[in-house]
Amino acid sequence: MSGSVGEKTQIIDGKEVAKSVRRALKDRIKGLAAAGVTPGLAAVLVGDDPASQTYVNSKARACEKLKLYSEVIRRPADISQDELLGIVNDLNANDQIHGILVQSPLPKHMDELSVTLAIDPAKDVDGFHPFNVGMMLIGRPGLLPCTPHGIVKLLEHYEIDPSGKQVVVVGRSNIVGKPIAAILVQKAPMANATVTIAHSRTANLAEVCRRADILIAAIGRPDTITEDMVREGAVVIDVGVNRVDDSSTEKGYRLVGDVDFDKVAPKCSAITPVPGGVGPMTIAMLMSNTVEAAARITGK
Ligand code: GUN
Repeated sequence: MSGSVGEKTQIIDGKEVAKSVRRALKDRIKGLAAAGVTPGLAAVLVGDDPASQTYVNSKARACEKLKLYSEVIRRPADISQDELLGIVNDLNANDQIHGILVQSPLPKHMDELSVTLAIDPAKDVDGFHPFNVGMMLIGRPGLLPCTPHGIVKLLEHYEIDPSGKQVVVVGRSNIVGKPIAAILVQKAPMANATVTIAHSRTANLAEVCRRADILIAAIGRPDTITEDMVREGAVVIDVGVNRVDDSSTEKGYRLVGDVDFDKVAPKCSAITPVPGGVGPMTIAMLMSNTVEAAARITGK
């Protein structure tokens, strides 16, 4: 891929960085094993959404590779909210499980917030519980959401220090946009940025984006970030994972980000590709959170 891009553009390799995160985790996992602790992750999947099944399966595979314990709990889309809350409560009380994630989206008859609130914050490896969200906002240790945490690791690996830089985040989701802004604005290493959150109602979006030294695209729509929106020399982090129809592929679709990569990449000092950029980091950070949660819960 780097062949099609200007010589000066660094392609940020999420697969490599994810590998180095996993390598570092292996030592911690060995240490925990020596103390009799195997970190355990439970994923709860309600319904049969194909993308969710793929995500949950890759999470379970990632656990296996690192010799973590994992359970996938599958239930049909018509289970009741109470049944789901019962499953979460059982996992909260299960000593083999240190991380719990309930795959979203949940069926429409369920209240996602009540389910998130039911998860023990110490086991909330998605970092979605309002306790962990609050700790993140005040810059205290908790469990950080995986995708934003993965973005910080990518920047760290490539020695792109956000301190003093203009960061523009496009997208205000609770999973990516808001938390990455909250993390990068902290008075802390690999943070200290001047952060702008832009979104669908932002006036003069292109102009706002052009201010960015680091532009983070988390919109969920292909080709939203075009060449005219990116300053020469900017770092672009593309969080988008969009399926677009492509009959030339075996699956009938291919994955693209939110950034028009071919046009934007030559202008950048560094950019993440899709796939192979932010994506692999999300699961690596989920593993990291599971190990972290196990260490904190057991005091090992
Ligand atoms: N659905 C899409 N991404 C995620 C994620 O990171 N965690 C959970 N629980 N559900 C998701």
